[in-house]
Amino acid sequence: MKNRDYLIVMQHILQLMDEGVHVVDPEGNSVVYNRSMAMLEKMESQDVLKKPFAEVFKNVDLKESTLMQALEKRQTTMRKEQTYLNKDGREITTVNTTAPVIEDGRLIGAIEIAKNITDVQKMSRTILELRREMDQPQKSKQHKIKKYSFDNLYGQNEAFLETVALAKRAASTNASVLIYGETGTGKELIAQSIHFASDRQNKPFLAQNCAALPSNLLESILFGTAKGGFTGAVDRPGMFEQANGGTLLLDELNSMPLELQGKLLRVLQEQYIRRVGGTKDLPVDVRILATVNEPPQELLERGILRKDLYYRLNIIEIDIPPLRQRPDDILLLAEQFVEKYNKKYGKQIWMLTDSAKQKLLNYDYPGNVRELENIIMSAISMADDEHALLDKHLVINRRKKLPQQGLYELKEGGLEEYLARIEKSMIENALVAHGGNISKAAESLGIKRQTLQNRIKKYKMKESQRGGES
Ligand SMILES: Nc1ncnc2c1ncn2[C@@H]1O[C@H](COP(=O)(O)OP(=O)(O)OP(=O)(O)O)[C@@H](O)[C@H]1O
Ligand SMILES: [Mg+2]
Repeated sequence: MKNRDYLIVMQHILQLMDEGVHVVDPEGNSVVYNRSMAMLEKMESQDVLKKPFAEVFKNVDLKESTLMQALEKRQTTMRKEQTYLNKDGREITTVNTTAPVIEDGRLIGAIEIAKNITDVQKMSRTILELRREMDQPQKSKQHKIKKYSFDNLYGQNEAFLETVALAKRAASTNASVLIYGETGTGKELIAQSIHFASDRQNKPFLAQNCAALPSNLLESILFGTAKGGFTGAVDRPGMFEQANGGTLLLDELNSMPLELQGKLLRVLQEQYIRRVGGTKDLPVDVRILATVNEPPQELLERGILRKDLYYRLNIIEIDIPPLRQRPDDILLLAEQFVEKYNKKYGKQIWMLTDSAKQKLLNYDYPGNVRELENIIMSAISMADDEHALLDKHLVINRRKKLPQQGLYELKEGGLEEYLARIEKSMIENALVAHGGNISKAAESLGIKRQTLQNRIKKYKMKESQRGGES
């Protein structure tokens, strides 16, 4: 090969390689500055090339620069890890090797080679977290699975019965199912019932909450990890492999980052998974059930749920109506829970008084069936010798009620009063959500702390004037 061709080949190599390369001549002018280096340091090659290093990198202390030290002191630095903020303010970790180039005792220049290990570092942290997860399986949600079936679902409301009928039909197919319902409506119960009534009932049922973990950890849990020389990762199957032949419930799918949603879609389409850091495609046969706790259409409009994934999962969509839309289920469920907790706590309560029933019917259950169950559970545990559940036992935490449109009648006190009620309600919710922490509640409401304190005072006054009504 001719010298010139050889040079051209070398130049191509420099531009194609993943490592950043920076070469200076004996005068400290940059003569090589490849694409990877430019990307790493967020610089433009033409701003660096043929210019003195000291002039381009003004804020670099020349005594700290290994490249300048290589030139001045003919010092070699091997694989030194450096963490710094690049021009975009992103933290970057590199491993750098710097060396002078000497030919027959004559200094020709100095070379720096930088390898970006930011992502590798992130991945190894993920794997450490994964290992910790594995060492403390009791902490990981996926293993705590109670078995539910359609027999555990109570309800007589027409819309609810339709929902159950649809879920039963879903159980006899292999299709993906998207379950939508507010918190506590029984999404998990329906998902499990589908699995345990399906052909896959003797195969694993695994559930993973997508909101519980950071993105990269969730990815490793779902797809597994492959042994990698530099990451120290172990070979570990992900939930797709573990659930092979069975069902995987992806809970709170709306919390899954879009990028991971894309990867999930590919798995569903191709029915192959690849472990994180791995090279092999492994076939998997897993039925996916997913839940969302906000209306799917809204999630699509807000760009939180990928459309393509939605259409792939939404082969069957099951919407569970909130409890306030099926008041005819309230007492039926209440009686069911009375029986359940009677047994559990060894009590002899065999009825609900009329006023207790009225109290239960008058509430709108933002926490849905779970909230009703909790109300009954604590009532039973508190009832002593009575044989009837009295309304005094039923502790309904009205503060949890969310402000809803149409909840307040405008005629009661005009617009001002109407808005004040909503404001008060929002403040109460914010305080509950932040455990009474005024600064945090103010921040979440987007108002100053002082403003919030004034409002609290204002509404407390009103409350006492009204004699604690609400
Ligand atoms: N129709 C029902 N019959 C009996 N129990 C029910 C019914 N619906 C819900 N429950 C009970 O309500 C509780 C909440 O159900 P589940 O965990 O399935 O709700 P979820 O929709 O998954 O809630 P979240 O969105 O908060 O995860 C469970 O204890 C379940 O047993
Ligand atoms: Mg759930």
